[in-house]
Amino acid sequence: MANNTNQAGFASKLGAILAAAGSAVGLGNVWRFPTETGSNGGAAFILIYLLFMFLLAMPIMIAEFTIGRHGQSDVSSSFDKMCGGKKGWKYMGLIPVVAGFLVLSYYAVVAGWTLDYAVRAGMNDFAGKAAADYANDFAAFSSDPLRPLAWLFLILALTFGIVAMGVQKGIERGAKIMMPILFIFIAVLVVCSMTLPNASLGLSFLLKPDFSKVTGATCLSAMGQAFFSLSVGLCCLCTYACYFRKDIDLIKDGFSVATIDTLVALMSGLIIFPAVYSIPGLSPDAGPSLVFITLPNVFQTVFGNMPVLAYAFSLMFYLLLVMAALTSSISMLEMAEAYFQKKYGISRFKSALGVSLVCGVLGIACSLSFGIWKDLTVFGMGFFDLFDFLVAKFIMPVGGFLTCIFLGWVVDEKILRAEITNDGKLKQPLYPVFRFIIRYFAPVCIVVIFMNELGLFDVIKMMF
Ligand code: PHE
Repeated sequence: MANNTNQAGFASKLGAILAAAGSAVGLGNVWRFPTETGSNGGAAFILIYLLFMFLLAMPIMIAEFTIGRHGQSDVSSSFDKMCGGKKGWKYMGLIPVVAGFLVLSYYAVVAGWTLDYAVRAGMNDFAGKAAADYANDFAAFSSDPLRPLAWLFLILALTFGIVAMGVQKGIERGAKIMMPILFIFIAVLVVCSMTLPNASLGLSFLLKPDFSKVTGATCLSAMGQAFFSLSVGLCCLCTYACYFRKDIDLIKDGFSVATIDTLVALMSGLIIFPAVYSIPGLSPDAGPSLVFITLPNVFQTVFGNMPVLAYAFSLMFYLLLVMAALTSSISMLEMAEAYFQKKYGISRFKSALGVSLVCGVLGIACSLSFGIWKDLTVFGMGFFDLFDFLVAKFIMPVGGFLTCIFLGWVVDEKILRAEITNDGKLKQPLYPVFRFIIRYFAPVCIVVIFMNELGLFDVIKMMF
């Protein structure tokens, strides 16, 4: 397949779906989803999350697929090609490129932590510690000026290496190797977790909804989580879609990607909550520390008299996190890389290297904001929190909103129909539903999320 980034596209349909699923499945599923579920009361949150996943995030992802596959180029050129001469839209592509730098810079910091934890699990470093040690260890590690930086650079180097190898040899092959291992690890860990004492308590936390706990904030967190988890709003999947073949059914295969992403999130819940309930005194709403402080403790305590299992469980879990993070960071780098490759006519290698180096520098600032630069703040936030705020709470909703407006209102409907039906070859009964969602439902929902994130509802409440 020819395309403007001088790269062969994904060789197989499976490779394309796995690569897109790899972008979607990441720390958002294994780290952020259990955190959000835990702090939002469990099953009721999950039900609302599922609704938003399939009614909002998935259609926007399909919209990104449509733009990418039709545009056959990097984000910016794809928007330019489809805007029918409406000049301003070509700059729309710049938003995700800038966001790509920001998101990779801070995501790679957490991805680096997972690598450190995987290595420590491999060296059996968690064995024989007291409960308080895990929290102290994490605080000492994340605020260390050097150790997290070494892991950050290693993650960026791995991401760069895979992206530099190209679409088929790097991204597709990486996804084809890592994704199946990830599924096997997850399945094994779920089975182990379900056999722990009190696992049923964790299960009922996940399955028995308590709607009395649902508030407006719960709904909005669920929407935000669906967005982040499916990588929607930054056009990473738009870039991947320019490598899609013409036989990909955007709606059906988009559904597969969203289903894989959702299943991984739910299974992460099935690993984490039964494990948390198996030790008295631990709480499912421990927040972001669940994965780095609570879980190493859980593994050691629960399997206290079976050290081999404690070792295997921890190692598998952190390796799983590393792989999930890598398949996502690859998509972040690829999006920015494709842009500079096309715009300046440079090689994939040089473009990916340049982006990685800039992300390395920005990443240092993010990493140090947990330690020696803790007091260096912009708008009251350290660099890590600032980047996360800008990406997840500002650029993602804006990017998703503009994608819907662009495809629903600016692009010629004939193009949209032709892409969704593969030039009329597919009967696509869901086309009108999809079009309705991206024209009306999704933009309205995003405005609601956005107003909440900016605290505008609080301002409105205060006014009345
Ligand atoms: N979806 C990824 C995750 O769940 C994160 C991501 C966000 C990836 C934005 C690409 C773009 O971890």
